[in-house]
Amino acid sequence: MDVLRIRGGRRLTGEWTVHTAKNAVLPIMAAAVLTPDTTLLEDCPLLSDVAYMGEILTRLGCKVTRNDRMLKIDPQGMDSHEMPDELAKKIRSSIFLLGPILTRFRKATVTFPGGCEIGLRPIDLHLSGLRQLGVEIHEEGGVIHCDGRYMQAGNVHLDYPSVGATENVMMAAVLLRGKTVMHNVAREPEIVDLQHFLNRMGANISGAGSHTIVVEGVRRLHGISYKPMPDRIVAGTMLAAAAITGGNIHLKNVPVEDLHAVFSKLREMDCVLTQHADAVVLHAPERLRPFARLQTQPHPGFPTDMQAQLLALATVASGTSILVENVFENRYGHAGDLNRMGADVLINDRTAVVKGVKELYGARVTARDLRGGAALALAGLRAQGETIVEAVHLIDRGYERFEDALAALGADVRRETVTDT
Ligand code: EPZ
Repeated sequence: MDVLRIRGGRRLTGEWTVHTAKNAVLPIMAAAVLTPDTTLLEDCPLLSDVAYMGEILTRLGCKVTRNDRMLKIDPQGMDSHEMPDELAKKIRSSIFLLGPILTRFRKATVTFPGGCEIGLRPIDLHLSGLRQLGVEIHEEGGVIHCDGRYMQAGNVHLDYPSVGATENVMMAAVLLRGKTVMHNVAREPEIVDLQHFLNRMGANISGAGSHTIVVEGVRRLHGISYKPMPDRIVAGTMLAAAAITGGNIHLKNVPVEDLHAVFSKLREMDCVLTQHADAVVLHAPERLRPFARLQTQPHPGFPTDMQAQLLALATVASGTSILVENVFENRYGHAGDLNRMGADVLINDRTAVVKGVKELYGARVTARDLRGGAALALAGLRAQGETIVEAVHLIDRGYERFEDALAALGADVRRETVTDT
């Protein structure tokens, strides 16, 4: 098991370039199987979730090869419509393959991806969206059998703007003759990126980023070479790392237009942010001010994937901050360990009350989920003394060599492999 060993107290300074987005790459990898042609993904991040998705595609008969940061997906030999259970349980985003497999084979067998550290993660909205396209679905002993023989374009309404369900239905509709209109869809930037990718492949989709997406079915798609969008959550996390250390950094390759909610909260905490076309400079104050209230919401509201990082900032602010986690039911796994570092966080169901303290103290802590783990590392950058963050494999799911990124900006952090005791 790997750990991060962090000595706190260093201000982060310097320049860093953000890598492409996990949450854009994963659905795009699923969409690549919508054509038998080969697709090339440029600057594909070295993340474990990307590797797992590649393993699933390989098990389905695709050829997936990586040459440094170029990922090549050749779905020509794809011959299975059955999602491998043990892999599907490893990453939730395997469910994104349901739409493409149905489009390719008109049938699909998947198992429930199962919950994870931040919640039950049901897939009822995915299944409801596909049923509205005429997919016949029955569940038996945890296995979901989908019959797409009678799939057809039509109207789809999502009861909640689920990111994954929106992406699944888009990919299920892209080759259905006629017009599919999707209502109450998610508006996340990664969905806009998926629309760009599919339209470059020859699809005819419009409206991504708004509440309604229209898919005009086309006969076939062709392979392309594509560079997915930058990772807005990694960008936000690095800005938070500079903010908690009183630092001053220049981030490049930043999707500035997708980060207004995060920039607004950082400014409320007295950070000075200067925005450029695809870059941002952050100057942190000596002491962060609290924010009055942070409510996570679907985009363009404040992103749930940045809640843990802002909660970490709030622990050392000059007053009390309130956070409300509206998207996931169990996303405060980092609070207990932050309190062990001297923070004063009170959790009541979906609400966190964070009373700022002057100092945090290094401790041995454990990542419980991807973003919570990153938040604990941020706290370690600020804490007096040494912090050990365990279960770094969870951070590796969404951050490419997180320790190298932080060290490049002056942090005293290194990865160590410890034998499981
Ligand atoms: C995507 O997950 C992201 N993952 C998540 O990022 C992100 O937190 C989430 O969107 C919200 O922005 C990827 O893109 C790979 P949802 P997804 O469906 O699609 C409930 C990270 O840290 N729901 O919008 O699973 C669900 O339980 C990860 O990078 C249903 O009830 O999110 C949750 O409470 C974490 N039924 C809410 O909706 C369903 O069928 C939002 O989920 C689907 C979802």
